[in-house]
Amino acid sequence: MSVSTLAAVSAADAVAPSGCAPLPVLGRDVTVPLVTGGEVTYAALDYAASAPALQRVWDDVAAYAPYYGSVHRGAGYLSQLSTELFENARRTVAGLLDCRDGDQVVFTRSTTDSLNLLAAALPDDCQVFVFETEHHAALLPWRGARVTFLDAPDSPEQAVRALEHALAARDSHGPALVCVTGASNVTGELWPVRELAAAAHAHGARIVLDAAQLAPHHAVSLRELDVDWVAFSGHKLYAPFGAGVLAGRADWLREAEPYLAGGGASRKVTRREDGGVDVQWHDSAARHEAGSPNVIGAYALASACKALAEAGFGTLAAREERLIRTVRDGLADVPEVRFLSLFGDDAPRVGVLSFVVDGWNGSHFAAALSAEYGIGVRDGLFCAHPLLRALLGGDPQDGGECGAPGAAPGGTALDAIRVSFGAGTPDEHVERFVRAVRELVRGGARWSYRTVDGRCVPDTSA
Ligand SMILES: Cc1ncc(COP(=O)(O)O)c(C=O)c1O
Repeated sequence: MSVSTLAAVSAADAVAPSGCAPLPVLGRDVTVPLVTGGEVTYAALDYAASAPALQRVWDDVAAYAPYYGSVHRGAGYLSQLSTELFENARRTVAGLLDCRDGDQVVFTRSTTDSLNLLAAALPDDCQVFVFETEHHAALLPWRGARVTFLDAPDSPEQAVRALEHALAARDSHGPALVCVTGASNVTGELWPVRELAAAAHAHGARIVLDAAQLAPHHAVSLRELDVDWVAFSGHKLYAPFGAGVLAGRADWLREAEPYLAGGGASRKVTRREDGGVDVQWHDSAARHEAGSPNVIGAYALASACKALAEAGFGTLAAREERLIRTVRDGLADVPEVRFLSLFGDDAPRVGVLSFVVDGWNGSHFAAALSAEYGIGVRDGLFCAHPLLRALLGGDPQDGGECGAPGAAPGGTALDAIRVSFGAGTPDEHVERFVRAVRELVRGGARWSYRTVDGRCVPDTSA
């Protein structure tokens, strides 16, 4: 087996979508029991948390697995093969992200890891600007820096104006970084990344794009969006093998202390006369990849990027748009269901929709969708507490009690429910979801539920 043979296996397994067919994913035939009796195929509608593995990614990993070996400096054939695959994965990702000359692709564990790595690499005195609407992974890593939190905007234009205003008022001309999401993990809404990048650069700031929710749905080009870095996770991109990416400008990364100190990051280590140790660190991406690299994770992530690009993001987005319309149109005449949005119901979005249901708390509603319909969604505050506070009003709570009062009609709610889907979602799952929501709102749950460890679960004690 050689790298080119593995590439050929991968190409042969590629499934050309017919335009309206979902891409094959693992778990598509899994059945789950219903509390009311019988079994149904599981409707995984929580892609925004973690998407199922693409069959193609799984096949690629399975084809490579027997040839798995240590990465970097192993003398054996399989070590050399694995090293080549790891570095090829880096090149594939760089190509698909349309990286510029000199950009680096660092393999990390996840988006959270990537943004924490960048936070650890900020130059001294860097000012950071971030909207309060961000996922906690983009909101919290900057606590060692001077951070300006911007209020939730009510339109993309206002987001750009608010950023321009904040940057114009900044108190120094030192380094500055803007961190912004490409697509919200709560509302699914697309943010005006290109315009925010232009605003950042006009004021001498840099910008990092949190593409955790964008990359699974749209092509991301660093060059075209003109962002300085992009971060995303393999497990949201149909490659759940523990790898993520931070890609972009090399200078801050090269000048920073290694994120982790250890083998792989160091080029030369010598004992000093005084008994201490001197280290020369790598300048390449390896500087921040100390320890044994996750070659399977990187390989899987590159395979997923290729598979999505080959399927065509335009085709995938058109199909997803149709599924979004199925949800919106199917629930348009159910006034108890209120969708959450910052930019308005018709704002462009990816397949991520959050809503509250009058009279229900989210935990109870999500439990009924699972137990009575075999549908997996998410409830709570989605690791975006300030945004949920802005969207729900009042004092929302993560982890709902079954008995807690639900959303007041037209008013505040304790928590929300999120439905999310993507390239592997069959129409039937979304149609079942719409039918289930309508039945639950109109007829109520058919089972009783109780709270266990802060989660609402079917009461099977009777
Ligand atoms: C917008 C956004 N950013 C960052 C993250 C963090 O991703 P991870 O948990 O893979 O680090 C998530 C996860 O839900 C997200 O939705």
